[in-house]
Amino acid sequence: MRKYDYSRFEGKRVLITGGLGFVGSNLAHRLVDLGARVTLVDNMLPRLGGNFFNIADIRDAVRVNLGDICNPHSMEYLVRRQDYIFHLAGQVNHVDSIRNPLQDLEINCRGTLVLLEACRKHNPTARIVFSGTRGEYGSSVQLPVTEDHPKNPKGIYAVNNVAAEMMMLVYADVHGMPCACLRITNTYGARHQMMHDEYGVVNWFIRKAVDGEPLPVFGDGGILRDFLYIRDLVECLLQVSLCPDAYGEVFNVGTGKPVSFRELAALIVEVAGTGSYAFTDFTRERAEVEPGDYYADVSKIRRVVGWEATTPLRTGLAETIAFYREYRDQYWNGPSEDGLWPE
Ligand SMILES: NC(=O)c1ccc[n+]([C@@H]2O[C@H](COP(=O)([O-])OP(=O)(O)OC[C@H]3O[C@@H](n4cnc5c(N)ncnc54)[C@H](O)[C@@H]3O)[C@@H](O)[C@H]2O)c1
Repeated sequence: MRKYDYSRFEGKRVLITGGLGFVGSNLAHRLVDLGARVTLVDNMLPRLGGNFFNIADIRDAVRVNLGDICNPHSMEYLVRRQDYIFHLAGQVNHVDSIRNPLQDLEINCRGTLVLLEACRKHNPTARIVFSGTRGEYGSSVQLPVTEDHPKNPKGIYAVNNVAAEMMMLVYADVHGMPCACLRITNTYGARHQMMHDEYGVVNWFIRKAVDGEPLPVFGDGGILRDFLYIRDLVECLLQVSLCPDAYGEVFNVGTGKPVSFRELAALIVEVAGTGSYAFTDFTRERAEVEPGDYYADVSKIRRVVGWEATTPLRTGLAETIAFYREYRDQYWNGPSEDGLWPE
C-alpha cells in the first residue's frame, strides 16, 4: 500500500457537505485528528443520517453550518478559501427517491451543480471528491463490476448520481477543476442512522441483532454484495484527495470480496451473540430497486491511488455492534439534540 503524507491536512481548510451524516462525520473525526480546519454543511434533512451526536466529541473543533447545498448564495461563501471539499451531502434514501423523485433531483443533481458553480466562480482550485454509488451500475451483467461496466440505474437516486458524477467530470474537463469521483459500495459502521430500514442494510441488521430480534433476509439470502467498513472508506476519501492522478477519474470503492446476505446475517448474529435470522419475501418497494449481485473490481483504485480496504468484515461488525450497544439511545429513535449548541 502507498504511503500518504497525512500531515498535508494540517492547518488546511476542509469543507464537508453532508458533514453531520454517517460518512461525513466519520471523515470529520479523522480530519480533526490530522489538524485540519473543518467546516460541515448539512441541512438535517429528515429521515437521513444527520445527527448532532455524530460530532458530540469534536463539536468545539469544527464549524457547523446548517445550510442547504442547493442555496447558491450560501455555497458561494462556504467554498471560498477551502483547500479540500468532500461532497457527501445527498438524498441517499433509495426508497424515497422513488416516492419523491423531484426532491432527489433537486438535491443530488441541482445541489451538485450549485456546488460546482460556486467553486468555478470563487475557488476553482479546491480539490473536490464526490461520493457516488455502485447503484449507478444497476443490475450487473458481468462480475466483478469494472468502471466501464454499462450503467443501468434501477432508481432515480442512481440516475441522479450518474448525472452528478458526469457534472463533476465535465467541470474537471472543461474548467480544469480537480474533481475525483467514487462509486461506493454498501458501507456500514458507527454513526449511521438506525431509525428505519430504507437504506443501510448492514446497520439495520445490526439493530435487529442488538435488539435480540430476527434479521429479515429477503428471498433465500443468496444475493451477493460487497460490504465496506467506514474506516476503510474514510482512508479512501483522504487518499483520493491527496492523489493528483485521481482527478478527472472515476473509481470503484469496495472490498472486491463478495458476501451473501445469508452469510452476512449469520456473521452478525454470531458476532453479536444475540438475535437470529429469518427469510422473508421482498417487499414490492424493495423488489423495484433491487439490482441483484454486486461486487466491485477495485484494481483501478489500487493501481492509481494505492488504496485498498483492510478491515475484515468480522472486525468491522464487532466494532459497530459495540458502538451501538453503548450509544443506542442516540440513534434508535432518530437524531438526538445532544451537542446541538456548545455548553
Ligand atoms: N453509506 C453508504 O453505503 C453509501 C454508499 C454509496 C454512496 N454513498 C454516498 O455517500 C454520501 C453520504 O452518505 P451517508 O451514508 O453518509 O448518508 P447520511 O444520510 O448519513 O448523510 C447524508 C447527509 O446529507 C445531508 N443532506 C441531504 N441533503 C442536503 C442538502 N440539500 N444540503 C445539505 N445537506 C444535505 C443529510 O442531512 C445527511 O446528514 C451520499 O452522497 C451517498 O450517496 C453512501
